Amino acid sequence: MASDLGISYASSWDDVEAVLQGISTLVTSAIDRNIPAGSTHSQRVAGLAASIAEKLGLPSGEIRRIYFAGLFHDFGKLFLPSNVLIKTEPLSEDDWSFIELHPQLGATFLERVPPFSNIANDVLHHHERIDGRGYPRRLSGEDIPLGARIIAVVESFDAMTASDSYRACVTHEIACDTLIKGSGTQFDGGVVQAFLAVLSCRKQ
Ligand SMILES: [Fe+2]
Repeated sequence: MASDLGISYASSWDDVEAVLQGISTLVTSAIDRNIPAGSTHSQRVAGLAASIAEKLGLPSGEIRRIYFAGLFHDFGKLFLPSNVLIKTEPLSEDDWSFIELHPQLGATFLERVPPFSNIANDVLHHHERIDGRGYPRRLSGEDIPLGARIIAVVESFDAMTASDSYRACVTHEIACDTLIKGSGTQFDGGVVQAFLAVLSCRKQ
């Protein structure tokens, strides 16, 4: 079966990378299936998370690991009912209790598979808040893994600004303002500063 996919013919690291990239795209398409067609939410989060990691001066292996954590951060949404994920009206308490399961669900599956187990912790904690009022473990400050703090900033920005979201989007300026206002309470202030620097570099 693997040979049908060309995997047995992979003669170089580039070939293996191409197969891995293809599998990643298939999985993230499934994760993003409830966002209007053609969405690349997971890819955008991964790319921006890696840019922040680079801006923070992290080593290349860590940048790459955070890229993959960004790619699979919402893996747990595969196991949630679609009707909750596509709801445009305010979510009920029951809806939230479903939504809040996704970091734990994703981490539980990822940690069982060795190549992905090293991103499970970032996936588990990407909805924690710096002030300890997030979920699922109510961690605070630097107890939250850095990769998770980075993904929290990028995912919020993308949710606010993406035109392929089911919810109304705002301008980059308004979204950046929200991140700045949330620094030190919802978000890591250093990560927000690095993100703003990445965004202004991209404008040039
Ligand atoms: Fe999430």
